[in-house]
Parts: sequence; C-alpha cells; structure tokens
Amino acid sequence: MPFLSATLDRVKPSPTIAVTTLAQELKAAGRDVIGLGAGEPDFDTPDNIKAAAVAAIEAGKTKYTAPDGMPELKQAIVTKFARENGLSYSTGQISVGTGGKQILYNALMATLNPGDEVIIPAPYWVSYPDMVLLAGGEPVAVECGIETGFKMTPDQLEAAITPRTKWLIFNSPSNPTGAGYTRDELKGLTDVLMRHPQVWVMSDDMYEHLVFDDFTFTTPAQVEPGLYDRTLTCNGVSKAYAMTGWRIGYAGGPEALIKAMGKIQSQSTSNPCTISQWAAVEALNGPQDFLAENRATFQRRRDLVVRMLNAAEGVDCPTPEGAFYVYPSIAGCIGKTSAGGAKIETDEDFSRALLEETGVAVVFGAAFGLSPAFRVSYATSDAQLTEACTRIQRFCAGLK
Ligand SMILES: Cc1ncc(COP(=O)(O)O)c(C=O)c1O
Repeated sequence: MPFLSATLDRVKPSPTIAVTTLAQELKAAGRDVIGLGAGEPDFDTPDNIKAAAVAAIEAGKTKYTAPDGMPELKQAIVTKFARENGLSYSTGQISVGTGGKQILYNALMATLNPGDEVIIPAPYWVSYPDMVLLAGGEPVAVECGIETGFKMTPDQLEAAITPRTKWLIFNSPSNPTGAGYTRDELKGLTDVLMRHPQVWVMSDDMYEHLVFDDFTFTTPAQVEPGLYDRTLTCNGVSKAYAMTGWRIGYAGGPEALIKAMGKIQSQSTSNPCTISQWAAVEALNGPQDFLAENRATFQRRRDLVVRMLNAAEGVDCPTPEGAFYVYPSIAGCIGKTSAGGAKIETDEDFSRALLEETGVAVVFGAAFGLSPAFRVSYATSDAQLTEACTRIQRFCAGLK
C-alpha cells in the first residue's frame, strides 16, 4: 500500500515558488540574477503596524485567540468592509485565517464534494486549481485571452456553468495579469450568476488597493446585492500593507459558511498568530496614507515595464489596471532560437533560456493556464526593472 495519500497525486508544487527558489540558488552560486518572480511588495511593513505588534508582545497579548480570529480584529474588518466596499457584515460573518491562502482553502474544503465544479478564469493564480483538487473538486479553467484584456465575458461564464458548478473564483485585479474588471464588466458577470442560483462567488480581492489611473475597484456583493447571500468576499493585509510574512487574511460571508470554515480551522491550525492579528488591527484601523504612496510607486513601475517590454521584439504587453504584475504575450518569439542556441517552442523554454542566458527570472505562462506568455512581478526597484527589461530586450533581439 503506498504511504503517501492519493490526493497528493492530483496536485503540483507551486511553480512560482519554484522559480523564486531557482533564482535564489543561482544567485547563491554567484550568478548575477534579477528575480521578477516574487509575488510580494518590496517595501517594509509600515512602522505603526510594526509598533502595534511590539506593543502586543510587551502587553503579553501572546496567547490563543478564538480559532477564526479575535473580536477586535473581526470588528476592524467589519468596519473596513463598510468603509471601503459598502458591505454590511456582522462579526459573526467574518473569518480570519493564516493568510488569504488559508481562507480560500478553508472555504473550498468546507463546501466541495467529489464532482463539484469550480470555474476559474485563466490565466489564474497558481494555487486555485490545486486547492480545488486538494478539496476533492474539479477545477474548470476558462481561457480569457489578451483580446478581452484577460477578462472573462458573460458568454464565457454562461457557457462554463453546469448543474455541478458550485463556485466561480473571481480575482480582480488579477494575479498574474493585473487585469481589473470595471463595474460594468463585473455587472455583466453577476447578471449571469443571478440566473444560476446554485453558483456561489469566491471573490479574491487581495489586490484591491493596488489600482491605477482612474480605475475604481468593485467587488461582486457590492455590484449585485442579490448575490450577497452566496458570496464570500476574501481579502487580506499581505499585499496592501506589505505584510506577506505576517500571514493574516480574512473573509466576510454568510454565517453558515463562516462557521463551517471556522470548524476546519479549529481542527487544523487554530488561530492565526495573535501578534499578527494585533498588527492587522492597526493596519486596518490606523492611518491609510501608505496605500496612496504605494500605488504611486507601483504605477510608475508599471509604466516603465510596459513601455520597455513593448519595445522588445515579439513581445506584446498590455497595460494592466492593477496589482504589481504584467503578463506579456510572447507569441512573436515562439519557433525561434536564442543567441545561446535554445529552441523556443513554449513559454517554459523562453523563461528557462532567459534565466540561463541573461539571469532574469520570470514565471512562464503555462503555470497560470494561458500560453505563450510570462509574468513579470514589478515589485522591485526601478533600477533593477530597467536592467531586467534591457536584458529581455537584448534576449529578444537575439532570437532568430
Ligand atoms: C490572487 C491572490 N490571492 C491570494 C493570495 C494569498 O495571499 P496570502 O499571502 O495572504 O496568503 C495571493 C498571494 O500571492 C494572491 O496573489
């Protein structure tokens, strides 16, 4: 009898973490590597948030809390949803987990039965399909190409829904494309969902605060109040407040679902780190000016990267509405051979040759379910971005 669970055969390790690890190894071996693979802001957590954590430690707030979050943080989340999203939740409708990742995972574990389908617009964040598989469900990827700005159309959603569809996972702005749905675009999707009462929405709003130009963020339960009773609105402090390592994510949703998610957490990890919860209270209740400064920095970097990548031969890089990623198509590079002699048949070939020949680490599109493309995370300095994009231009110019 095999020792490892058969469930494990259904999933793969995170390819984005694999790229970051490979780049770190090359760096450790003395290579001049620029990593554009990481999915986290490069700035430090703001001082007021760090100070709140230190104060919590000094005040002895270091014990267990309620498994799915302490009342003070749940109240701060209730206030945040009302203030920023026009959504009214009670504290009994809030769950706090160890990162947004645990929240999404708990929700899928709490609801999926064998054969249940989950619609995932592609390109998608790498963890969605594997989490669905771990929870025993069936991911249904719907390819949303560059021609629709990587956004799912109402017709595509309608065509993907079956009687077995349990969830749509909605992520705007998106990892990996940065695409953000306008209110009208989102309304097109929620209108479809209103016709299919068996389908719930898991809205992953992790990049809510990273939006550019005059883009206005909206979330499904806000755009269509008729969906409030079957929407889980997920968010977290990781990306907005540069708190990836603190591991706090949260969601608001129907009480029965929130209770079921809490049951799973109470029998697995129990409460997220108490000190991090106090830090998250300060992040949500404290001064918010940090967010605008962040946005300005990321917008400047986005513009730099989009301009430089579009100047690379065979590369077509749309301008995203948010997050800190771009997702250029490399259709014009496929079938060529690099200056170092590598045949570029796939986007994986492209990213491997790019790393080996220029030291620039990006994540290939196949990892996110839409090829041929690659993802650049521009959460690094302007100088590094300029150097990396110059190397990409040189690499592409060398393709014959
Ligand atoms: C779209 C999306 N959702 C959720 C997460 C998970 O965030 P956390 O670090 O809070 O678990 C990430 C992190 O990369 C993400 O990109």
